Amino acid sequence: MNMAHELGGIEWQGVSKRYGQHTVIPDFHLSIAAGEFIALLGPSGCGKSTLLRMLAGLEPVSSGRITIGGRDVTDLAPGQRGIAMVFQQYALYPHMTVRDNMAFGLRNIRMDEAEIGRRVDGAAQMLELQALLERKPVQLSGGQRQRVAIGRAVVKEPLAFLFDEPLSNLDAALRTRTRLELARLHKRLGATMLFVTHDQVEAMTLANRIAVMNQGRIEQFAAPMDLYDRPATRFVAGFVGSPAMNFLPVRRAPDQDGRCVVTLSNGATVRTAVAAIPAGGNLELELGLRPDALTPAPDGQLQGTVEVIERLGDRTLLHVQLADGLLVVADAPRHGEPALGSTIALRMDLQRAHLFDADGAAHHPA
Ligand SMILES: Nc1ncnc2c1ncn2[C@@H]1O[C@H](COP(=O)(O)OP(=O)(O)OP(=O)(O)O)[C@@H](O)[C@H]1O
Ligand SMILES: [Mg+2]
Repeated sequence: MNMAHELGGIEWQGVSKRYGQHTVIPDFHLSIAAGEFIALLGPSGCGKSTLLRMLAGLEPVSSGRITIGGRDVTDLAPGQRGIAMVFQQYALYPHMTVRDNMAFGLRNIRMDEAEIGRRVDGAAQMLELQALLERKPVQLSGGQRQRVAIGRAVVKEPLAFLFDEPLSNLDAALRTRTRLELARLHKRLGATMLFVTHDQVEAMTLANRIAVMNQGRIEQFAAPMDLYDRPATRFVAGFVGSPAMNFLPVRRAPDQDGRCVVTLSNGATVRTAVAAIPAGGNLELELGLRPDALTPAPDGQLQGTVEVIERLGDRTLLHVQLADGLLVVADAPRHGEPALGSTIALRMDLQRAHLFDADGAAHHPA
């Protein structure tokens, strides 16, 4: 059985979106099982909000179909799709109390008042809003307002929740707290949740699967740690992980023992743990190393100058300028960090080095 046919499952089938001559989404396919927590992660302008708005019915598709729970909703009005959306701008009615804001959508569809009361009280309890029900939005903090906006979605008892950057107006501490509340809410309700963000920490901590997007396309759809450990493309490798992966231009040398061998720009030749790539194709590759796979050592294969020392508390990062001008980020040892401006050697942990083709395809250590 198609997982997207369960109640709350979502499927985009060849969905495209054009504005005049400009194609924003070329041909989008994605299938989400009921109850999943999915993040759409990608840089600004890659089409995340557009996809959510088409799913919610706020924006027509140019072509393709969208199903929710196996039902084709492509031509249905937003209110008939069984979903609720929470935006970055909470858009509460300023003259109404919290209780009336939450009840508004239900009164609009003439739901029985007793049922409305039951749902509002239930959502208020879940989101710890009971003490605030008689207040107006202006009497709330930003985080409380966003909780009311989430409550307004919860009372609809939708099959799926759509969140478009709901935390980006909150300060750092509140973001973290609200993030945990969303995780708890998902656990309690078990509803499908689709979360749009350009913040990878949000995506990694909340979602069970993440679709990394680039220019209206999915680069990779996988579990958070798979994206980190086995990024399918150079784009994903560079986007997921903070600080970002280092990329060094290298040239292929003859394979050894079934492993790829590459020559660095300083002439050093190293054997990676990547299985030999079939001969032919481009000789120019990029070697990808996360900062913690690059550490100072007297016999390191790379030489450079320490330009910046960044102390983050739990780790210290060295920004090192290599002889060929390239800037790389490496982890400093816990004790005895090198001096600013000193010349150091960096050892590459080749067991953890990735290789990327000129077309962006990734090759991982075996
Ligand atoms: N009404 C419109 N007319 C023309 N182009 C539009 C329209 N709405 C969006 N776009 C374009 O579509 C692309 C995708 O926009 P979208 O809002 O989906 O991006 P996003 O991934 O949500 O970005 P952000 O992270 O900044 O919110 C952008 O290039 C944007 O300029
Ligand atoms: Mg957006």
